[in-house]
Amino acid sequence: MPGEKPKVYITRRIPKPGIDILKDHCNLSFWDSDEAIPKEELIKNITGIDALLCMLTDPIDTEVLDAAGASLKVVSTMSVGYEHINTEECKKRNIFVCNTPNVSTDSVAELTVALLLLTCRRLLEGVKAVKDGEWGKWKPMWLCGTELSQRTLGILGLGRIGYGVARRLKPFGIKRLIYNDVCSVGYADDLDAKFVDFDTLVTESDIICICCNLTPQTKHIFNKDAFKKMKNSAILINTGRGGVIQHDDLYEALTSGQITAAGLDVTEPEPLPADHPLVGLHNCVILPHMGSNTWDSRNKMAETAAGNILSVFRNETAIGQVNI
Ligand code: DGY
Repeated sequence: MPGEKPKVYITRRIPKPGIDILKDHCNLSFWDSDEAIPKEELIKNITGIDALLCMLTDPIDTEVLDAAGASLKVVSTMSVGYEHINTEECKKRNIFVCNTPNVSTDSVAELTVALLLLTCRRLLEGVKAVKDGEWGKWKPMWLCGTELSQRTLGILGLGRIGYGVARRLKPFGIKRLIYNDVCSVGYADDLDAKFVDFDTLVTESDIICICCNLTPQTKHIFNKDAFKKMKNSAILINTGRGGVIQHDDLYEALTSGQITAAGLDVTEPEPLPADHPLVGLHNCVILPHMGSNTWDSRNKMAETAAGNILSVFRNETAIGQVNI
């Protein structure tokens, strides 16, 4: 990178491995907080930058791109999801958009399995019962849940994370594995998974894991029509994006017995207000979008997001280049 060091703005405090990659090669400035930067602050601080390292909470729209100006060459998000970035507009302006694929696959897949077990076996209800002094004499039908053994598992989105979830769950004795939406090369064969249309997925699965991106095709695909087709015994897990589920319809499905339970690590909106109707349901386990919250993933996400910026300046192919 000959000449003047490129100006990079980072919209949050990020793990040190990311800073270490950039600090000798770029002029760094950042929002020195663990909290999301308000949009007006972002706009104030990015005039004339060459690169923006952002988070999934930062909407990168035309207003932000205009504020940065013509010098902006790359928007690198420290996340797998990039629906907060107007990629088309970036493309028109020849701005590279990069994400951090691969590095959080294991953490998200592990959390999906944990959430699935929490939900299927009603573990949080059990913990609460002990704390509330409701643990009386053994009762044969108290807090009975769902086993994975001999079930049909449906995966929406058999990409890296969907594959990671499915291969971890197979040893539990899953009888049949079906999937819809994307499938990366080789995953279905490796798992002996069968592609089915969305209707078959929702009709025949005992457990469904949503592992897909939010796209116009997947937006609210789990709505009242889908819930009507699901088994009453079905369990729905979402670690993809909240917008894949229509939450009012989910509430209706969970309270009317149309489906048995749901486990959500992602919601619409985020954060989900504590007084949201879903929060009070005993059969809905909600986590605060913590799928990739491990130090291993976070450090690697910071490294990848930083490395992607340098790759663009060096005219090398970035690891997670999503447009251009
Ligand atoms: C991602 O990377 O998109 C996750 O949802 C947050 O870590």
